Amino acid sequence: MIARAPSDNAFGERLETYRERVNRRLERAISGGEGTPQRLRAAMEYSVLGAGKRVRPLLAYASGELAGIAAGSVDAIAASVELIHAYSLIHDDLPSMDDDELRRGRPTTHRQFDEATAILAGDALQALAFETLGTDEALASHPAAATREIVGWLARAVGPAGMVGGQALDMAAEGQRVDEAALENIHRRKTGALLRASIMMPSVLGRMTDEARVKLDAFACDIGLVFQIRDDLLEVEQDTATLGKNAGSDRANDKSTYPSVLGVEGARSRADELYGRAKAVLESLGPEAEGLSWLAEYILRRSY
Ligand code: IPE
Ligand code: IPE
Ligand code: MG
Ligand code: MG
Repeated sequence: MIARAPSDNAFGERLETYRERVNRRLERAISGGEGTPQRLRAAMEYSVLGAGKRVRPLLAYASGELAGIAAGSVDAIAASVELIHAYSLIHDDLPSMDDDELRRGRPTTHRQFDEATAILAGDALQALAFETLGTDEALASHPAAATREIVGWLARAVGPAGMVGGQALDMAAEGQRVDEAALENIHRRKTGALLRASIMMPSVLGRMTDEARVKLDAFACDIGLVFQIRDDLLEVEQDTATLGKNAGSDRANDKSTYPSVLGVEGARSRADELYGRAKAVLESLGPEAEGLSWLAEYILRRSY
């Protein structure tokens, strides 16, 4: 369950409907793979269909509201970003990466199954994300150029200059004291890029002006960074049971994080500052941005 509405706008009431929509689309995507070996499928289901907050799909639906497109055209986008996210978590938790035992309140995928199955489940989920975009009926009713642009957004967000590049920099920074600029670059890539794509992909299908899309992108970049700063703070402030993952893991791995580089207060005020800037941009996009506004506040204040 995602937390209570942080403010009194109505997006909180649509949240469960959107979560159910994406969960159904995720189930359909995974069950469509005829011939998937049983153990591999079980690891994929275990990793995807667990208790995630579904923040990235919710951002996609909220962005769809702003762009004025039907939720049916967002379902595949929402599922694709969650499939990528689930894959990234499996690999992030591996012994050769963050070496974590707990995720979403349960054993990590390599602990529940085995390391080879976890690696392969991640690989399979990444491919399934792109298959989902490439074969979705509702997306196919839009111009082919739009689907191409959407696939491009996702590939760039996830690839060497995006999430995977960020993860490489994050690993290289273990045991190092990086400066704030380097840390921001890591966080914008490893986490921010996928959140940014979750927001920008639906906008391709709508009738937003170029100017509005530039503003939306500025919002998306900043809120993606806020998400990871909050994640770093929660790691030092929250307990393992509430997080559903190992509190203190960053310190054990000697990671560079916002609290380790700027201190807890410095990290908080940087998140507040970015949030303020992101909110100001959103306000200029009009009342249809209320879902994104709700989620931005949630991202700043979330407790797990
Ligand atoms: C955790 O993401 C990993 C990061 C990129 C910080 P979430 O906090 O969205 O994880 P789930 O999906 O709710 O488990
Ligand atoms: C996760 O970052 C980033 C990706 C999975 C791409 P972290 O390693 O900081 O997140 P948690 O704390 O394991 O969720
Ligand atoms: Mg990591
Ligand atoms: Mg980790």
